[in-house]
Amino acid sequence: MKKIGIITSGGDCGGLNAVIKGAAQMAHSLGISCFIIPNGYAGLYNLVEFDHLVELTPQRTDWINSKLAGSEAGHSRVKIKRIEDENKYNRIQDGLKKFGIEGLVISGGDDSGSVMVDLTQHGIQCDHAPKTMDLDLQTYSVGADSTIARIANFADEIKTTGNTHSRIIVMEVFGRYAGHTAFRGGIASDADAVLIPEIPVDFDILYQHVKTRFYQRISESAVKSGTYLIVVAEGLKDASGSEIFDESAGVDAFGHKRLAGASRYVCQELTKRFKKDPSIIDLMKREKMYVKGIYEIPEVRSVIPGHLVRAGHSSAYDVNFGKEAGAAAVMLLSNKIAGVTVVGISGNKIRYMKTEDAIKQRFVDLQLVPFYENMGICFGRKLVKPEPKFEKITGHIERHL
Ligand code: F6P
Repeated sequence: MKKIGIITSGGDCGGLNAVIKGAAQMAHSLGISCFIIPNGYAGLYNLVEFDHLVELTPQRTDWINSKLAGSEAGHSRVKIKRIEDENKYNRIQDGLKKFGIEGLVISGGDDSGSVMVDLTQHGIQCDHAPKTMDLDLQTYSVGADSTIARIANFADEIKTTGNTHSRIIVMEVFGRYAGHTAFRGGIASDADAVLIPEIPVDFDILYQHVKTRFYQRISESAVKSGTYLIVVAEGLKDASGSEIFDESAGVDAFGHKRLAGASRYVCQELTKRFKKDPSIIDLMKREKMYVKGIYEIPEVRSVIPGHLVRAGHSSAYDVNFGKEAGAAAVMLLSNKIAGVTVVGISGNKIRYMKTEDAIKQRFVDLQLVPFYENMGICFGRKLVKPEPKFEKITGHIERHL
């Protein structure tokens, strides 16, 4: 293999530049030239139209800052199968031939991985460096640690304004139908409640938790200050199991519904209950907060950091994992192992699995939730007692969040 292309696809996030840099540096050491295919699969489909591609020479590669989030290669949410062009796979092959590209390193999540499987079936050699801030692949995916760290910081920082105004804060975060980012970010920021799609929310239970803890904080504060923090995943479901989202948000280029509206819904449900609860006036009076007609119930406010959780700088963990995943993907390609996803490097072993298996969606482990519930976090359901089993491990340990 003499020439390879690098594609990054799907939502951007931390660690992607590390994947690109790791792949290019490993390619150089193997005597392979490495090129950027711009803007995900949109660029791959249109490759034949390009006059030239940017080569990641050692000097160009040296300029890449692995710590910056986003991707030097650009992104799109294009699924090759959805393109209405019966000649699309030949067009892609023609583009690859034009530049002499024999293999692709593709960094993306489940959708991008499924396109990779499709390309492999059409005779294109590719390997997959797993990436998604959603953390919902079977493997660890670059971007998740950076995003979770940013969520934890934003959620922690928002408490200053929450405390100053004695507001209940509902912070909504990306993650689609898996709750990993809300779960891990919420735990890391000492959130009072974490609402995830894996657990349909009973708002009466959530309300009781909010009311008790919020007023307890206010009453324990000499200056009558307190907040309550809820971190909610965008793909939340209500108690009936129905998705909570705003239809008007439309669909993305992959064809998925854009999720929006979860935090607004949580605010409405809690506010409704505050208004109906006759004991609130007494509590407001007890805490000397009550002002008739103006300040009768606490404010419940939604905050949506949105793309900020994917932006900025990558965590050190993601840079490390990204470089290893990019480099490992190149080594797999150069050893004629294609159509697979890098799991990680362990000692001198490059571990990989079939991409079809790697992209099967992974949800929050519901056996873990009771441990956190019993540390006081509300998940919008009746508290479940943990049932621990004890296992003594000898030898190698594998674990990711
Ligand atoms: O796939 C990552 C992700 O951040 C999801 O969690 C979220 O639903 C989506 O991207 C948002 O996509 P876009 O940036 O295209 O609006």
